[in-house]
Amino acid sequence: ASDEEVVGTVKDQLAKLFEESLRVTVPDQTDTDPLIAACNPRFGDYQCNNAMSLWTKIKGTGSAFTGPQPVGQAIMTNLPRSEMIESCSIAGPGFVNVKLSRQWIAKSIQKMLIKGIETWSPKLRVKRAVVDFSSPNIAKEMHVGHLRSTIIGDTLARMLEFSNVEVLRRNHVGDWGTQFGMLIEFLFEKFPNMEVVSDQAIGDLEAFYKASKQRFDSDPGFKERAQQAVVSLQGGQEKYRKAWSQICEISRKGYEKVYQRLGIVLEEKGESFYNPYIPGVLEELAKKGLIEESEGARVIFIEGKKYPFIVVKSDGGFNYASTDLTALWYRLNEEKAEWMIYVTDVGQREHFEMLFTAAKRAGWLPPGDNSYPKANHVGFGLVLGEDGKRFRTRSTEVVKLVDLLDEAKSRCKAALVERGKAEQWTEEELEQTAEAVGYGAVKYADLKNNRLTNYTFNFDQMLNDQGNTAVYLLYAHARICSIIRKSGKDVEELKKTGALVLEHPNERALGLHLLQFAERKLAPICYQMCCVNTYTTYLDTSQHFIQIVRLWGQRRRQADSCCVKRLQRSCGNAFIYLVFGQSTRYDILG
Ligand code: ARG
Repeated sequence: ASDEEVVGTVKDQLAKLFEESLRVTVPDQTDTDPLIAACNPRFGDYQCNNAMSLWTKIKGTGSAFTGPQPVGQAIMTNLPRSEMIESCSIAGPGFVNVKLSRQWIAKSIQKMLIKGIETWSPKLRVKRAVVDFSSPNIAKEMHVGHLRSTIIGDTLARMLEFSNVEVLRRNHVGDWGTQFGMLIEFLFEKFPNMEVVSDQAIGDLEAFYKASKQRFDSDPGFKERAQQAVVSLQGGQEKYRKAWSQICEISRKGYEKVYQRLGIVLEEKGESFYNPYIPGVLEELAKKGLIEESEGARVIFIEGKKYPFIVVKSDGGFNYASTDLTALWYRLNEEKAEWMIYVTDVGQREHFEMLFTAAKRAGWLPPGDNSYPKANHVGFGLVLGEDGKRFRTRSTEVVKLVDLLDEAKSRCKAALVERGKAEQWTEEELEQTAEAVGYGAVKYADLKNNRLTNYTFNFDQMLNDQGNTAVYLLYAHARICSIIRKSGKDVEELKKTGALVLEHPNERALGLHLLQFAERKLAPICYQMCCVNTYTTYLDTSQHFIQIVRLWGQRRRQADSCCVKRLQRSCGNAFIYLVFGQSTRYDILG
């Protein structure tokens, strides 16, 4: 998600003014787009950079201008009057610096306060998007590796939804393929009387998977029956379908536990869903001449790649690639998605590069990466243990996500009890807080790290109440709420009465920063919207800030220095994490 997606920002509003000025200044240069950028705060808030390039275009054409500076001067003079602008100046070879009006900033923020947080949302060009995330594989435990996909994908979806995009949240579970032959056959062996099969009977699905794999590898007779079972399943035989859906159902219950803890909404459309569409899609691609024979398989050759994209295996079976091609086709044609985002580890980059290239060759996606419909792979690095290796428990098994979340919660609860909260709170309050902080901490710790690099999983760090953690952030939010409560002001009343005054330079900076919300890179905003439990926090914290700015101004005039200090501290904390994200400006609150 790049800044180009965003329209309707402060920058855009300024650009409109400059557009008019440019039309008057150089009437014959009709295709000149205003070049507006944030500028060094010593000179102003924004600058217009058109003068130099315009000068290169018009010099020697008999123009009356004598250099870039006079061009800049004219652009400045021709700016239409606007309450947005307090003053302008010319710098260097013709940069026009703009200082925004303090009253305009105050008024705009007041408008936000009254109209609500929705008016802050960036306007994107896309109406409907698919975010394909989480997507574990049936019969295999959902492990910490899936944590990142789930959290990052959910965050992207939330961000797009906040920006009024309709998001189809897709769980592309691995519920099809040859491993099911083996699983089903093993199920039949263990439970010849199918009626008795229940979650308890199968127990740990992953152990079940391993045991059946062992049987598959060591017994040729079993292997043959397993291969036959795949055919029967794909042929739609009742008994096999039933066994398959039983296995899927057990897996699903496991995933749900994780999604429920993390507050994640997902709609499952697994690999099996696309299976019936594959032949038709491949036929379309074949007609377009994309599919070729290679060593018994049917493949699409991709320029610059060592191996082709295999879409039908030599045994005639479909695979991950043919399923993804079909899913892409379905999302475009049946679901009318304009943007498709796939969240998996970086190991799958090549697969998605081939997939997208094939889709471009087929004419499904436009060439290049900047027009719609478009598809993106959002990759991420590994989660590592303290030893720098892939995160595992002592028994070298993968860590189960449910266990991990439960541990975060129980650690939080212990910390709360230690602080004497067990005496002050009800059991329910204690539980709720432990969940909000514990699960939030895991999410935030994941998101604050660089998406593409590996990161080390560390409970002590993510649950620390002093660092850049969800714990600290939630604490700051609680303090802000209490300040507002103690102020005795009614928030609704505040919205209606009294004008917001941005008196101190810090207040102005704070106000401008809030206004620039939609202009910032979306990635840090993502981080801020990370934790389910802090997501709403983020939204209403932002609202609270506006109220606080106002309160702060009023209080300071009353020389209530103790309150100012408290506000500074609380605002500072939450602002740093919630609004400034990674580009921290600690100085802003003085
Ligand atoms: N099931 C896959 C895995 O665990 C991820 C699927 C991602 N989505 C997709 N459309 N390929 O690796």
